Amino acid sequence: MTVLSIDAGTTGVTCLLVSEDGRVLARGQREFPQHFPAPGLVEHDPDEIWAAVLAASSDAIDAASSRGDRVNVSCVGLTNQRETVVLWDRETLRPATRAIVWQDRRSAGECDRLREHEPRVRELTGLPLDPYFSATKLAWLSANLPEVWAGVRAGRVAVGTVDSYLLARLTGGRLHATDSSNASRTLLLDLASARWSGELADLFGVPVEALPEIVPSSGNIGRTDPEHFLGLDVPVSGVAGDQQAALFGQAGFAPGAMKCTYGTGSFLLVNTGDRIAPAGAGLLSTVAWQLEEQPVQYALEGSVFVTGAAVQWLRDGLKLIERSSDSERLAASVPDSDGLIFVPALTGIGTPHWDPHARGAILGITRGTTDAHLARAVLDGIAYQIRDVVEAVTGTAGIPIARLAVDGGAAANDLLCQIQADLLGRPVVRPETTETTAMGAAFLAGLGAGVWKNLDEVAETGDGRRVFSPRPLPDDGYRRWLDAVDAVRRFGS
Ligand code: G3P
Repeated sequence: MTVLSIDAGTTGVTCLLVSEDGRVLARGQREFPQHFPAPGLVEHDPDEIWAAVLAASSDAIDAASSRGDRVNVSCVGLTNQRETVVLWDRETLRPATRAIVWQDRRSAGECDRLREHEPRVRELTGLPLDPYFSATKLAWLSANLPEVWAGVRAGRVAVGTVDSYLLARLTGGRLHATDSSNASRTLLLDLASARWSGELADLFGVPVEALPEIVPSSGNIGRTDPEHFLGLDVPVSGVAGDQQAALFGQAGFAPGAMKCTYGTGSFLLVNTGDRIAPAGAGLLSTVAWQLEEQPVQYALEGSVFVTGAAVQWLRDGLKLIERSSDSERLAASVPDSDGLIFVPALTGIGTPHWDPHARGAILGITRGTTDAHLARAVLDGIAYQIRDVVEAVTGTAGIPIARLAVDGGAAANDLLCQIQADLLGRPVVRPETTETTAMGAAFLAGLGAGVWKNLDEVAETGDGRRVFSPRPLPDDGYRRWLDAVDAVRRFGS
């Protein structure tokens, strides 16, 4: 039995074929275009996401078949970039407009307009009022694209997140659904009951009938339609937001388990079991997952918007490196950043400040500053942001962190892991397979379809780990980092 796992991330789609013993048999990977129509705006074309899903899935299947492996896909798991909103025609499944991506800041005005309601919004959802979250983007769409919104009101156009759109595509339009981990990122979910909140739907002006049905993250969710999806007629038995899936992929099933995933952004999640932990210090309360007929499991999250995206900016914006992986070699060519501080607030700041108006900055440039110092400062800036989150988790939330489990694309960078361990003064532990997001979706699907009987069987499939031990630093520069963040916030306001 083989599980096909689809990880539809922010910049690309990764598909894994995972065997019963948890090995990755084959993978497919496709990037899709990022659209930046104006400063602060980030869009995706949902058709391009779907094309990447089809291509990456068939690449994985072809790769396994060409090696002579018999590919017998028994179920599909899906995980996705969260918060991004997608609107599509219920009949044709074609997008009604471009998707507004989680990084997009256009709804800052909607947030300012609704600011007096923030305490109530936080109480119900566990989230601050920030353009990051879906409902603010929907409020912007209803005000600015009335012709599209008329379709929503008339019931022709479905509203959802990337998981709901891909579930509709995978099932040939039979399903309009989302799981509670994705729903908990919309600002429309009552966190305690894990149901849509009529009060919040009214506040943001979203008709509840246009929203997807909330389904479990693992279990009997739907079936792929062979005419739409590679001739496959198999259960879709796992769905979760990518950060929650990564926690599942690290086997973080017990309260207190945590992980930090370094993707486009970085997200640190701590499992809080069936308890909603109060979200102080800019941390979020969120749904971790819900297994079929089990109570909802919650997590506390620290969200950092720009990490891998900062390395991409070195590559695509400044053309300083050819491939993202070159950042490690360049940064390692100098012993330190020589006092240079890079604040990666390229799309505002999330935890702990939640300041959509903050902008990125490079501070401390001298005549001796080189591209290598900048590359080093970018890696430092990523690690300092995670330190801010760890301070919030250990300080305000009072949750001890002995070591940090890491994963995601940028966690393959050894230098980054070492810098992170040094700046935290704690060991950083990296699994052999850093694609834990896709593994998490595979585990959720396999559990839902009976490939694995229970969580213990899933945990047994884990592989080896590498530990980065912290080295003592004469001065970790954290004070200067905090001053730099203050400066960019003053500059943006
Ligand atoms: O909340 C945004 C997050 O889901 C994006 O994840 O891996 O695409 O950076 P990633």
